[in-house]
Amino acid sequence: MATFKDRIEGLKGEFETVADRVKDAKALEDLKNKYLGRKKGLVTGLFEELKSVPEAEKREDGRALNEFKQSVLMKVEAIGVRLGRPSPTDQISNHPDLTLPGRLRYVGAAHPLILFQEEIERIFLGMGYTIEEGPEIETDYYNFEALNFPPHHPARDSWDTLYITDDLLLRTHTSPVQIRVMEKKKPPILVINPGRVFRRETPDPTHLPMFLQVEGLVVDEGVTFAHLKGTLEYFIHALFGEKIKVRFRPSFFPFTEPSAEVDIECIVCEGQDKSCRVCGGTGWKEILGSGMVDPQVFKNVNIDPEKYSGWAFGLGIDRTAMLAIGIPEMRYFYENDLRFLRQFDLK
Ligand code: DAH
Repeated sequence: MATFKDRIEGLKGEFETVADRVKDAKALEDLKNKYLGRKKGLVTGLFEELKSVPEAEKREDGRALNEFKQSVLMKVEAIGVRLGRPSPTDQISNHPDLTLPGRLRYVGAAHPLILFQEEIERIFLGMGYTIEEGPEIETDYYNFEALNFPPHHPARDSWDTLYITDDLLLRTHTSPVQIRVMEKKKPPILVINPGRVFRRETPDPTHLPMFLQVEGLVVDEGVTFAHLKGTLEYFIHALFGEKIKVRFRPSFFPFTEPSAEVDIECIVCEGQDKSCRVCGGTGWKEILGSGMVDPQVFKNVNIDPEKYSGWAFGLGIDRTAMLAIGIPEMRYFYENDLRFLRQFDLK
């Protein structure tokens, strides 16, 4: 008795011969019915019979039968095309369904740090400040010397960076923009200078070798430390809400005298975690340096320190953003993990 496989082979040969004779759509329809018809189709019938094939051969026979069915389908399709009937795929591309919604691609969004920088800018723009930017590659003069860091002064160590030549370097802070602004403009001056800065720094949760700062500078007659304090307190409250605790701590910068660093309470642990990786258990985190512009700096830009006074600050945007969002890691901002970044995409 013929095996199941032989039956498939027999049917295959017969199908090829019959198929080659199909000349019109009617004959094609008949062919399709004869082999694939739901009730009496020959292939369909073999599928019924497959059920009673011994278990050992069922797999092999089933695969052969499926292959045959596929070849019948393809042949029917090919004959249809030969007879001039467009294939189903042609039908779709010739008649696109214009009512379908378009395919939306993700177009990206502003980086959370840039959004945060813009928020800072809005607060200062609201107080009448203008925005100026300076170059990321600076000269030794602007990054250090004009800011009262003499050559070889040990204070330079804290601002060490990558040198391009002996004189050209990646700026370590946005303070050089103060000098550029004061060379161009005479008081009254009221500016902020946001931008990218670079340091010889080992990355950790609150330090990065590249980060963003925003500098602020105010110069006019009669400017005092009270203006510095009032403005910075107003700014920090506008950014973090009225309840945030702020403290001014005496400090040293070569280009200001007196100088103060400003800390806010640690938002990550709220002063509750003695081993907090952000505040080191102190409950406070420094976000900016500030001070009254040193008279020597004014002399370097030909502004008369007897007539004018001023105050300045430099704020770390990444660190402040980290605290504002309440995350324990500044490095998240630069890892390009879309699961993190898309949370700030408000589109
Ligand atoms: N440039 C300083 C830094 O990067 C921060 C700073 C301190 C800026 C005092 C100032 C200032 O304008 O007055 O650490």
